[in-house]
Amino acid sequence: PKLPIHTRSSSRLLFAAKFLKQRESTGFSPAFAKQHYKMLVLGGGSGGIAMSARMKRMFGAENVAVVEPSEMHYYQPIWTLVGAGAKTVASSGRSTASVMPSGVKWVKSKVQEINPEKNTVRTDDGTEISYEYLIVALGLQLHYEKIKGLPEGFEHPNIGSNYSVQTVEKTWKALQNFKEGNAVFTFPNTPVKCPGAPQKIMYLSDAYLRKTGKRSKANLIYNTSLPVLFAIKKYADALWDVVKERDLQVNLRQNLIEVRADKREAVFENLDKPGETKVIEYEMLHVTPPMGPNSAVKGSPLGDEAGWLDLDKESLQHKRYPNVFGIGDCTNLPTPRTAAAVAAESGILNRTISKILKNEKPDKKYDGYTSCPLVTSYNTVILAEFDYTGQPLETFPINQAKERRIMYHMKADFMPHLYWHGLLRGLWGGPEPYRKLLHLGMK
Ligand SMILES: Cc1cc2nc3c(=O)[nH]c(=O)nc-3n(C[C@H](O)[C@H](O)[C@H](O)COP(=O)(O)OP(=O)(O)OC[C@H]3O[C@@H](n4cnc5c(N)ncnc54)[C@H](O)[C@@H]3O)c2cc1C
Ligand SMILES: *[C@@H]1O[C@H](CO)[C@@H](O)[C@H](O)[C@H]1NC(C)=O
Ligand SMILES: *[C@@H]1O[C@H](CO)[C@@H](O)[C@H](O)[C@H]1NC(C)=O
Ligand SMILES: *[C@@H]1O[C@H](CO)[C@@H](O)[C@H](O)[C@H]1NC(C)=O
Repeated sequence: PKLPIHTRSSSRLLFAAKFLKQRESTGFSPAFAKQHYKMLVLGGGSGGIAMSARMKRMFGAENVAVVEPSEMHYYQPIWTLVGAGAKTVASSGRSTASVMPSGVKWVKSKVQEINPEKNTVRTDDGTEISYEYLIVALGLQLHYEKIKGLPEGFEHPNIGSNYSVQTVEKTWKALQNFKEGNAVFTFPNTPVKCPGAPQKIMYLSDAYLRKTGKRSKANLIYNTSLPVLFAIKKYADALWDVVKERDLQVNLRQNLIEVRADKREAVFENLDKPGETKVIEYEMLHVTPPMGPNSAVKGSPLGDEAGWLDLDKESLQHKRYPNVFGIGDCTNLPTPRTAAAVAAESGILNRTISKILKNEKPDKKYDGYTSCPLVTSYNTVILAEFDYTGQPLETFPINQAKERRIMYHMKADFMPHLYWHGLLRGLWGGPEPYRKLLHLGMK
């Protein structure tokens, strides 16, 4: 079809602009690509986008770049609710382009190598980018392949995992198709992000099976590698009450090592008696995969012995490279890895970097604040909030270990809003100021 002249030329222009942009962002054209940035951010997830918004204000958009290969950005916390059919997977994602702060350069490729001695980063297409300051926000890696029989096993029905966008909708299917038998939920023998999520899925499944009248035909079993139900005693006590009241079976120190999806069998190892394994038949299996450090960090001088980004836990500055900083799941900060922690860290890191730029010592200290809304049904949540010392650090002047409806609305409706419009725009640094305010009247 013939387009009017002006449309044709403007669409050609658009095409040319797109083409140049693409060449530039994939780094194929050194003539267009700027290969040096004052502030380079690795990873465009929760931490990377939040920091790039803040760094844009500090350095100017043209001096900031973000390396991120993914077209889509996901609000991962909502996946727990997707698995239960309470939200759709589509509602959890937006294009990376739409969350990238305007004017900040998006380098659409994968970090292959980080060389902090030379202040350079190499991407998978061979481009070398140099930097003055670096923020590492690469997240952690899922290792389904460390369980024998996975990931191929996901091709079978009755098995799902809320931890990956590819498998989350399968959990919902498995739950809907449930007839009778064992519903098994696992927790791996590694650090994980949002350590509450593996059991939230069980509580929601319980609620769903009750709602649909199938609960009496179901055995809900939570086999976890951990020696406790939850790390913080106050919340663990509350959760044990929920577990007893709902008749859920919890087995500690049990690690999933194999899935025989064709026979619907899961094999667990008893961590206290190495070599002792047990096979359990399932009608539905939810796998929380083993997780580990990001490979680009692990393979660089920036990692600690285990491969996590080696940070000072108060200033979030790298222990050996003073122009390198980090945030989020890729770090070795000794607190559970959550988006809530990322929010608190983003405010501290903003402060640390502004001090370093002025040649002053970082002064504000990260206290390890993290939070985990433990969804216990379709309308209740226990909101766990605590710090490095494992002490509850609650925002609201009420006992948050109690199951509460208001907290469910926070999790399902308010938190996503705060994520997209607050955290990602560099405007939300955690609830500390509000906590102080809300507790004032109570003291
Ligand atoms: C099921 C589930 C439930 C959760 N529930 C909650 C909750 O209730 N509350 C809460 O606070 N948190 C929750 N979380 C955790 C939260 O989502 C994460 O802690 C948070 O997103 C971490 O942010 P991040 O920036 O460190 O990592 P991510 O957001 O994962 O971002 C890392 C980014 O790095 C990119 N990347 C990786 N490798 C490379 C590379 N080589 N080169 C370039 N880019 C790369 C990735 O594509 C990704 O975009 C949950 C997570 C899951 C999965
Ligand atoms: C995901 O989480 C929901 C809510 O806990 C749970 O009911 C569902 O079974 C899970 N689904 C998947 C795909 O994991
Ligand atoms: C896992 O759960 C089953 C069922 O409750 C239990 O019998 C078993 O001891 C647990 N651990 C292992 C290793 O299977
Ligand atoms: C981040 O740092 C900049 C520069 O020091 C400062 O102006 C800004 O207020 C800081 N933002 C927050 C939320 O602390």
